[in-house]
Amino acid sequence: MGIGQRKIRPLVAGNWKMNGLKASLAEALAVRDALTGAEGAFAADVMIAPPATLIGGFAAALGDYPLLLAGQDCHPKASGAHTGDIAAEMLKDAGASAVIVGHSERRADHGETNATVRAKAEAAHRAGIMAIICVGETREERTSGRTLSVVSKQLQQSAPGSATAANTVIAYEPVWAIGTGLTPTPDDVKSVHAAIRNNLISLFGPEGEGMRVLYGGSVKPDNAACLMAVENVDGALVGGASLKAGDFLAIVSAYGDT
Ligand code: 13P
Repeated sequence: MGIGQRKIRPLVAGNWKMNGLKASLAEALAVRDALTGAEGAFAADVMIAPPATLIGGFAAALGDYPLLLAGQDCHPKASGAHTGDIAAEMLKDAGASAVIVGHSERRADHGETNATVRAKAEAAHRAGIMAIICVGETREERTSGRTLSVVSKQLQQSAPGSATAANTVIAYEPVWAIGTGLTPTPDDVKSVHAAIRNNLISLFGPEGEGMRVLYGGSVKPDNAACLMAVENVDGALVGGASLKAGDFLAIVSAYGDT
């Protein structure tokens, strides 16, 4: 299937990680203005996940079209004595329509398990926002031939029963490809995304057929079209290259040919 004939509307999401101050609004506005000016030209939803400190201000400045906002993490509970944590309800209140959960940096830096990630995805659904659930193997897991089993297990244990095509997105992000400039070959991406799709169908039936599966890890303007053309790749989760509007828009342009 050509990149323009997909049944699933793709999503290109930028994960700003711990980068961005109020002045970074200029980048978000530049993305919004390009999307607004090219209304209908990009066959994809476009989202950025700035630090939580910026979501409210960005939402106010961006208006309601057409750039979506997401958080980068949430607490499983809706409120309570959890100093420093942010509830999915708070992200929604600030203007986010989604939250990334289980990013490998949170799994590594904060010891998040699949069970934690699942509880966070359930929290997103409870709050009425979309969960972007991240999975991906380490270099050691890939070189020892365990990629598909590791990713399948993460998926089965992280995706909650409340997941639907509308409220859940899966992001496949090989840990060794994040921030390194390295990417898997298109064939490798194809085989992991096919395994994820099969898992989603066996877990969620028809909903699993419609769930978006993003690729993330060193997506750049010069490799985006090639990666996004792979079967079962329904968009991208972009880190470093999402920080500058020009680079991010060049990646979104992979979906500009329809
Ligand atoms: P990079 O695009 O910087 O490799 O980061 C990918 C990522 O972790 C997005 O969540």
